[in-house]
Amino acid sequence: MDLELKGRTFVITGGSGGLGLATARRLAAEGASVAICGRDEARLERATSVLEGLPGEAIGVRADVREVVDLERLVDRTLDRFGRLDGVVNNAGRAAAGAFEGLGDEEILADHELKVMAMVRLVRAALPHLKERGGAVLNSLAVSAKAPIAGSLPTSASRAAGLAWTKAMAQELAPAGVRVNAILIGYVDSDQWVRAAQDAGQSYEEFTAALAERLRIPMGRLGRSEEFADVAAFLLSPRASYVTGATVNVDGGFSPVP
Ligand SMILES: NC(=O)c1ccc[n+]([C@@H]2O[C@H](COP(=O)([O-])OP(=O)(O)OC[C@H]3O[C@@H](n4cnc5c(N)ncnc54)[C@H](OP(=O)(O)O)[C@@H]3O)[C@@H](O)[C@H]2O)c1
Repeated sequence: MDLELKGRTFVITGGSGGLGLATARRLAAEGASVAICGRDEARLERATSVLEGLPGEAIGVRADVREVVDLERLVDRTLDRFGRLDGVVNNAGRAAAGAFEGLGDEEILADHELKVMAMVRLVRAALPHLKERGGAVLNSLAVSAKAPIAGSLPTSASRAAGLAWTKAMAQELAPAGVRVNAILIGYVDSDQWVRAAQDAGQSYEEFTAALAERLRIPMGRLGRSEEFADVAAFLLSPRASYVTGATVNVDGGFSPVP
């Protein structure tokens, strides 16, 4: 199936690693242009070089999604370079889950800023351009948005908020031709699990196999970042033209809810 992504342009936050980089790779392989961002300049440069040689062009823009000016610069740089914007992927984030007792206001508000307000502000900055040709927004969320469990705060609350924003924005923006969808992620290979394995003093294979077993993931393994990227590319593509306000679990059957 041709995803009809050639010649289109996408912004991917947190595109310098993990799932964001896998998505950038998939889109660029399809001939789309991508602008990726992250805070660490060296990591961003490495990621941009990974994208070299693919059919679509890539630029890296250093940006912290918690800063409005950075988000506005990200959109401006993308338009300066590619002249159009067809979609944004709100993906930058980090794990923040622990017990309610001991969780302070600051930590809760910081997670909301990173995972919810960054998305709101980027969509606000991108919207006039997305409206020009009928664009798409894709939010990287987590299965805990619909199925929060003990020890999953504040992330599960931020992700549930992301779900509400996804659905309401989808309905409001549909008449303007802008689609808004979300992927609810379970446990998928990425740099964050590489770091977790290192912290545990285990090899990546050992760590992730034990994790999959402990969590009883029905498919018996973590997802591959390319498996996330395939779903992301489809939802961003015109082939998903009648799909909006939807969530897709990419979790190997882990979530108890659809
Ligand atoms: N992988 C999973 O199993 C899983 C599960 C549930 C949800 N998720 C969500 O999926 C998204 C991607 O996760 P991942 O596993 O790919 O994470 P990752 O491997 O840690 O990559 C995170 C990316 O986001 C960037 N980033 C982090 N904070 C940022 C900020 N303030 N401003 C700009 N960029 C920032 C990082 O670059 P810098 O650090 O250089 O800024 C990096 O490029 C996250 O929102 C995560 O919470 C992932």
